[in-house]
Amino acid sequence: MRVRNIRGIEKKIEETAGEKYIIDPSSNKGRWKKVFNNNNPIHIEIGCGKGKFITSLAQKNKNINYIAIEKVEEILYKTVLKLDKEESLKIILGDGNDLLEYFAEDEVERIYLNFSDPWPKKRHHKRRLTSDVFLDKYRIILKNQGKLILKTDNTILFEYSLNTLNKKWLLENISLDYHHSEEIEDSPTEYEEKFRKKGIRIYRLEAINQK
Ligand SMILES: C[S@@+](CC[C@H](N)C(=O)[O-])C[C@H]1O[C@@H](n2cnc3c(N)ncnc32)[C@H](O)[C@@H]1O
Repeated sequence: MRVRNIRGIEKKIEETAGEKYIIDPSSNKGRWKKVFNNNNPIHIEIGCGKGKFITSLAQKNKNINYIAIEKVEEILYKTVLKLDKEESLKIILGDGNDLLEYFAEDEVERIYLNFSDPWPKKRHHKRRLTSDVFLDKYRIILKNQGKLILKTDNTILFEYSLNTLNKKWLLENISLDYHHSEEIEDSPTEYEEKFRKKGIRIYRLEAINQK
């Protein structure tokens, strides 16, 4: 029998986040709107890191249900420390690889990928969050016309993502020197602030799911 080992940090996540922490996301597959107890659109971030981006969006936009996914518990705990009682935000300690276990077809309206790991070695390209393996999963859980929004400082990852997305998605609002603007539903991430301070250019794109 497999006994679930709740390590100290996961216990801290549970205690601090309370109901915002979803221990078994797969049990909510197809019923996320019930979990949030409303009919608002669901926006998810994969690899939320320390959570500045998703917590500030959730604190601004109370009419959207946000879900933050991060695979490293010590990092997710930093997101937990930024949670606010009022926002409509749930957090998952999980892997983007397992999205089809967490979400049913057409359940999600938007996916954010911010400063995802670039995985420079060729043999690791499949691990990139914009490899075909991941895009195929996004296409299933995203509604028709749902959006994938990506920001990165990494030229190679951006070029790679343009090529993989170009096969089946409609690309728009591509920026090779993105600056945050109040007109766009966006907020800077921890990595973004660090790169911006160093004068590093930020790339951004939006890709529309075509079903
Ligand atoms: C470079 S950091 C960027 C963090 C944050 N998005 C930002 O912009 O500040 C990438 C994060 O994605 C997480 N990550 C990478 N691959 C992931 C996956 N397959 N599923 C969930 N999280 C992942 C890493 O643990 C890390 O915290």
